[in-house]
Amino acid sequence: MSHAEDALKNRQVWTKANAEYTDRRARDAWADEEIEWGMYSGPEAGLDALGALEGKDVIELGCGTAYFGAWLAKRGARVVGIDITPAQLETARRLQEETGLNLEFIEASAEDVPLSDASFDLAISEYGASIWCDPELWIAEASRLLRPGGRLVFLCNSTLSVLCSPDEGKVEERLMRSQADLGRIEWPGENEGVNYHLTHGEWIRVLRANGLAVEALHERLAPDDAEDHGYYDFMPADWARRWVAEEVWVATKAL
Ligand SMILES: C[S@@+](CC[C@H](N)C(=O)[O-])C[C@H]1O[C@@H](n2cnc3c(N)ncnc32)[C@H](O)[C@@H]1O
Repeated sequence: MSHAEDALKNRQVWTKANAEYTDRRARDAWADEEIEWGMYSGPEAGLDALGALEGKDVIELGCGTAYFGAWLAKRGARVVGIDITPAQLETARRLQEETGLNLEFIEASAEDVPLSDASFDLAISEYGASIWCDPELWIAEASRLLRPGGRLVFLCNSTLSVLCSPDEGKVEERLMRSQADLGRIEWPGENEGVNYHLTHGEWIRVLRANGLAVEALHERLAPDDAEDHGYYDFMPADWARRWVAEEVWVATKAL
């Protein structure tokens, strides 16, 4: 499959997810006063992955309904969100009007962003390009879009959780796939899309190849009181309390 075909398939997945879940959840998510990471809402406070936000130019690659971008805009960042799914952007635009927050949205692929080089201080992806796009393409775009000294921060499923994921159903407590099969993963089933999941070594290689130095890899465990997620039910809270389910990567572009 070509990248364009994968993007088309992933847009169908997200159009359906928007109708089933993300549109319904978006208003509450925009209203949240905290910045939180991932399925089990780990607070940014204490992690400090994003750094100072006031006055920063931020691009979110795969912005979805843009609750994450909204949290950054509330802290004084100028946020541009890129997404390929019109339904997701419609929700984002509606909430922008409702809240009066000032974000900009562009329908485009994070693998080929129609914006100038070196225009942002911070590039982020919260389960957007970070799992739905080819890292060889979107990391190159993130690096191109960042100013020297700029920061890239992204959240993705942990490598371990993907290795323990069967093709269908919940994450298991044993290895379910070969490390050699990581990279592009096309999940079977009509409602599933195409993801990219790398080993840590491959992430470091692709980041470094694009002039980005790794500053931190935050390995997230779910908190003790975490409950199973109502929609993303492939990852039981009990698993995520014991093993790292999600990773926040932080990298900077050389000055
Ligand atoms: C989990 S959502 C992101 C949630 C987002 N952080 C938010 O605050 O709402 C993943 C998004 O990635 C988008 N996406 C998938 N492939 C993409 C691509 N090639 N370029 C840009 N966005 C893409 C989907 O359309 C979907 O809206």
